[in-house]
Amino acid sequence: MQKTGLLILSMTLLLVSCQSEKKEKEDIKIGTKKKEISVFETGKNIFNGKGKCYTCHKIDKKSIGPGVVEIMKIYKEKNGDLIAFLKQEADPIVDPETYAVMKTNFAIIKTFSEDELKALQEYMIKVSK
Ligand code: HEC
Repeated sequence: MQKTGLLILSMTLLLVSCQSEKKEKEDIKIGTKKKEISVFETGKNIFNGKGKCYTCHKIDKKSIGPGVVEIMKIYKEKNGDLIAFLKQEADPIVDPETYAVMKTNFAIIKTFSEDELKALQEYMIKVSK
């Protein structure tokens, strides 16, 4: 039984790796035609992907953290600096009481480049309009 499971697993892995290889080749082929990915799209990908922001931040409602619309409203009102906050150079202004929860994500955010932080900001501004 265990062996069968292992076999299925390794076959699945093989299949997945073959597929991604194929996809890479296709990407190269159409590479010249493909439009450069926009700052907004980059931000969106980070927000929903490797940044894991979406696990705690929905767009227009509160979940574990405040919604993006709420965050951006307060940043606009108080003239906050989102990038400085993400760099841990500015204090929280939205919900300081639960800042400890947000803080757990800085290990990831710290690895982002300036451009990636700007893309995140761009996404959060645009998506909340
Ligand atoms: C583990 C849950 C969690 C994750 C993951 C998370 N956040 Fe948060 N975030 C929170 C909570 C809770 C708050 C409210 C506390 C606060 O205001 O700092 C918050 C607040 C914020 C604020 C407002 C800060 C302020 O001035 O008060 C911003 C901006 C923000 N998050 C951006 C992000 C971005 C960008 C990501 C992804 C890279 C992210 N968060 C990932 C939980 C999370």
